[in-house]
Amino acid sequence: MSAHIPVTEEPGLSSVAATIPSSCLHDIFRAADRAERAGTEVIKLHVGEPYFGPPPAVAEALVDAVRGGRTSYTEVEGLLALREAVVHKLAVTGGADTDPSRVFITPGSCQGLSALLHTLAEPGAEILLPELHWPVHLQQALLAGFRPVFYPLDEHFRPDPEGVRAAASPRTRVLLVNSPANPTGVVLDAALLGELYGVARQEGWQIISDEAYEHYVYDGAHVALASLEREVPPADRIVHSTYSFSKSMAMTGYRLGYVVAANERTAKALRVVQEASIIGPSAPVQHAGVTALGLTGAADTHRKLVRHNRDTALAPLVEAGLLRGLPAGGWYAMADIGRTGLDAETFTERLLSTHQVAVVAGAGFAMRPGLDEFGRITSTAFPPWSRSLIRIAFCVDPEALSTGVARLLDFVRDMER
Ligand SMILES: Cc1ncc(COP(=O)(O)O)c(C=O)c1O
Repeated sequence: MSAHIPVTEEPGLSSVAATIPSSCLHDIFRAADRAERAGTEVIKLHVGEPYFGPPPAVAEALVDAVRGGRTSYTEVEGLLALREAVVHKLAVTGGADTDPSRVFITPGSCQGLSALLHTLAEPGAEILLPELHWPVHLQQALLAGFRPVFYPLDEHFRPDPEGVRAAASPRTRVLLVNSPANPTGVVLDAALLGELYGVARQEGWQIISDEAYEHYVYDGAHVALASLEREVPPADRIVHSTYSFSKSMAMTGYRLGYVVAANERTAKALRVVQEASIIGPSAPVQHAGVTALGLTGAADTHRKLVRHNRDTALAPLVEAGLLRGLPAGGWYAMADIGRTGLDAETFTERLLSTHQVAVVAGAGFAMRPGLDEFGRITSTAFPPWSRSLIRIAFCVDPEALSTGVARLLDFVRDMER
């Protein structure tokens, strides 16, 4: 582990939020924007924005709702029609067995995750996050008052259930699982999910299962963690799930997702959190969501597009030895550029300035904050192995992706000379 670097606090602002660095994604966003403003055309492999959009019927439903005046506040948990459609969808796809009273429609799954974390946070409680994680999971956990603890992943970025148990302490309350994973593209199979579930059950933890990429599994099948407790009485369930319309339906800017709370106790507290933070989700967007959930083939079409990208454009990275194998799911691949002799920050900066390709340096997905007693960050550290990783988004335009990967490989070859 590298040395802890002190975090400078904003003078006069000593909240937890003021000590949390903005995510690594924002640095590269800003750098790519600057390059574009200076007239350079940038190939954007740093951002998970799909090159396809939602089916036209989704936009029509949104416009119809607005024109038809269906724009009033809705229930805090969202329109009943949409929650019923979610329950039906989960029943037919083998997801959680649930009831509209435990479903919450949210402005993006990001807000759902944040609300769920606020619902589950207890003073001094620890949350277990994968050592390579989506930085927003960490930011949200800190903002909710959790103390993050990181569980190890093997060389294929898979968690070992006993490693997860070993990372825990008597203060552990929540285990966060994300399959398919951002940033690694790893998909956890039913056996491994079952083992993780068994550990959480034995230890008395809750689980948050982030299902944002549920429809993007290319090898094997997607298993929703909550489906493992279909036979458990709702009052005894421990798996809370978050879902997104952004990925499956390519509705990123609509901001629509949902939370399925494991049990009524959690649903009751989550209702308070939502009432106090959003009052309710946007009504017209929810109407668009009802239409989207009815378009059952769209997610399959989207998966095929991204799968095609993966198979064609990422294969050269595997052949060049930068990727161990093709990611089994999701929208991102984690490549290792260590052999160039550059750290990933320098690599991404130079790749952008010399080859006009934006990718994200991996360390930001592995930040280890040091905290004071109030949960404020006092230092940050990054495991050395994370400094040779870069994240590449492969949900983008196929031609841009292939060109971007070719340029990246040229750059690697140049650095090796
Ligand atoms: C793992 C993961 N969860 C949740 C989200 C949030 O998606 P949204 O808020 O758009 O539903 C993202 C977005 O990138 C993600 O990668």
